[in-house]
Amino acid sequence: MKLMFVGPPGAGKGTQAARIATRYGIPHISTGDMLREEVKNETPLGKEAKKYMDAGGYVPDEVIIAMVKERVSRPDAGKGFILDGFPRTDVQAQALEEFASLDAVLNIVVPDDKLIHRICGRRVCRDCGATYHESMLEDQKTCPKCKGSLYIRDDDKEETVKKRLSVYKEKTQPLIDYYAGKGILHDIVGSGGIDDITEAIAAVLDEVK
Ligand code: AP5
Repeated sequence: MKLMFVGPPGAGKGTQAARIATRYGIPHISTGDMLREEVKNETPLGKEAKKYMDAGGYVPDEVIIAMVKERVSRPDAGKGFILDGFPRTDVQAQALEEFASLDAVLNIVVPDDKLIHRICGRRVCRDCGATYHESMLEDQKTCPKCKGSLYIRDDDKEETVKKRLSVYKEKTQPLIDYYAGKGILHDIVGSGGIDDITEAIAAVLDEVK
């Protein structure tokens, strides 16, 4: 299955994509995670991307398209994959059509006030990449899974989050109509519990298979 998860910052794309990828045995391809890895390794791409990410904007299309095209060509993506956070612009969507054809797009819908609360409380593990909300954690500094250290993303400041939301509405929301027109869009209510949302997505995917 070739899937894409779309939704505003904080909708839970990464949380759900990781769970669904494990359940279906397909890779979780997150452009945000790939970029953060480049930033962490201080590569030329990472240094360039960081400027856009910290400002709440999008990294240029050509960089992202080349990165995803290379990733989906690897053998582990042969049976399918989940694209988390790509495509985000019309140019990216057109480019994707040239190297892959999506079976389903899962649109995770969450009201804006919940998004801000979720993002401003997000903690990420530096070692295993797991994501938590501060309210789930007894110890705010240590990952309950691997004991790695938890950090707050540089782009999770409230001002940057507001900018990310407005960029999403302007540049990515129009893609939702595009995929609805192709008959592959599925809306998922993303404001309930994490387990319930995973089951709602799995129910949709059982129909798609
Ligand atoms: P990216 O990392 O993709 O950021 P994003 O799209 O803004 O999405 P988030 O990671 O903030 O949220 P999410 O929906 O994955 O939510 P999560 O599961 O973490 O991209 C970062 C940046 O990279 C972009 O701003 C851009 O600069 C650049 N970039 C990336 N892709 C690009 C592209 N294609 N083109 C150009 N630039 C690109 O959950 C959030 C929080 O909520 C967590 O704390 C989690 O524990 C909690 N949570 C999740 N689900 C629930 C729930 N059901 N109930 C309560 N809490 C929940």
